[in-house]
Amino acid sequence: MDLCIFNRTMQKTVEGFSKLSKEEKIHWIAHNCTSNPESTKKTLEQYWNNNKTLQKVHDEFIENTLTNYYLPFAVAPNFLINEKLYTIPMAIEESSVVAAASKAAKFWLNRGGFKTTILGTEKVGQVHFMYHGEKQPLETLIEDILPIFYTATETITLNMKRRGGGIKDIVLRDKTKALGGYYQLHCTFETLDAMGANFINSCLEQFAKTLKEEAVKKGIDLEVIMSILSNYVPNCVVRAEVSCPVSEGKSEETVSRNFAQRFVQAILIAKSEPFRAVTHNKGIMNGIDAVVLATGNDFRAVEAGVHAYAAKDGSYSSLTHAEINDGVFRFWMDVPLALGTVGGLTSLHPLVKLALEILQNPTAKDLMKIVAVAGLAQNFAALRSLVTTGIQKGHMKMHLLNMLNQMGASNEEKKQLVEYFKERTVSNASVKEGLERLRKP
Ligand code: MEV
Repeated sequence: MDLCIFNRTMQKTVEGFSKLSKEEKIHWIAHNCTSNPESTKKTLEQYWNNNKTLQKVHDEFIENTLTNYYLPFAVAPNFLINEKLYTIPMAIEESSVVAAASKAAKFWLNRGGFKTTILGTEKVGQVHFMYHGEKQPLETLIEDILPIFYTATETITLNMKRRGGGIKDIVLRDKTKALGGYYQLHCTFETLDAMGANFINSCLEQFAKTLKEEAVKKGIDLEVIMSILSNYVPNCVVRAEVSCPVSEGKSEETVSRNFAQRFVQAILIAKSEPFRAVTHNKGIMNGIDAVVLATGNDFRAVEAGVHAYAAKDGSYSSLTHAEINDGVFRFWMDVPLALGTVGGLTSLHPLVKLALEILQNPTAKDLMKIVAVAGLAQNFAALRSLVTTGIQKGHMKMHLLNMLNQMGASNEEKKQLVEYFKERTVSNASVKEGLERLRKP
């Protein structure tokens, strides 16, 4: 509490901050928000790119850029997806995620790999408006002006239509039971390889304009409140799955019955218990977000849409499913993913371009498949640990380097301690003790 008051009195308001040069902004931040301005400047400047042109590209992504914020960019190899091998780029800070993905990829490589199917690619946008009159004249109006919605957006849709996409449907929805006077134009789109946010929002704003103009002509009094795409895309869904025979013992091509049963049980728990389902799905998002981020897609949109999908049946539940049927273990997930491989950052950010090249320049549909597989693999790896050894063993081993770096260990010390902890339990205390022992003369 005291800290808040202290901070509020310490900081100053600022006019025209966005108009200052980057150096002036840094000066302001360093002197107004930090206790050691020189060290603040150094911290920010050490992340600048030496290549000024490249730095400018990054500076201009957003407003008030001070520096770059690094995340590790890694790859998880050996993913066999529909008989094709992929090396999957991932951008993520959590130590165990890439290792877990690689392990899961290897595990399924000998067991037939991952299979995927696109179940739909429909995107959604809505014009939300208020109308308090009789429903019939409104319905007639929408029916009459339907062709105008299409003609008025022709300049926006021309290119998309040429490639086979565009507006799929425009439907009047009566939402008055949920909110008095609330109607919407519920519109669906096919945006092909683009995520489509700009395309959809431009179409919607034109629909809203047309709606207002035509309503005035017919003497219908309605008020458009807003027009915006929806990040809930329950018909833009991909299925990713794996399966293999169940055997009594361990083998290279099967899973053991005991493991399969415990795995299925873990999923049933996540299906029946939201506290567990949230963490279960978080693990899936470890894989999904990392690839979404590496490929320059909007992970907030994906997150919002995926979690809404996980709650679509009335309570928040597991995104993944598993069963043992006729001696076969099957594990799968249907997941909504609105992704793009053209537009947005894809041609601007050099690492995004590279990530897409590593993925063999996928279409948006291909990318949906790859991202879903990364999510499924991550969930498989997490559950495999959870129902066998527990998660901490692997997690702490991966976290070991972070701990050693924090404790200021040298490269040689790190090498020796990584070897030492191969067969020992990693904890903050044990690592500290190990380092101290090593440093004793
Ligand atoms: C940690 O980032 C993710 C897990 O908690 C997922 C899970 O519990 O299934 C390990």
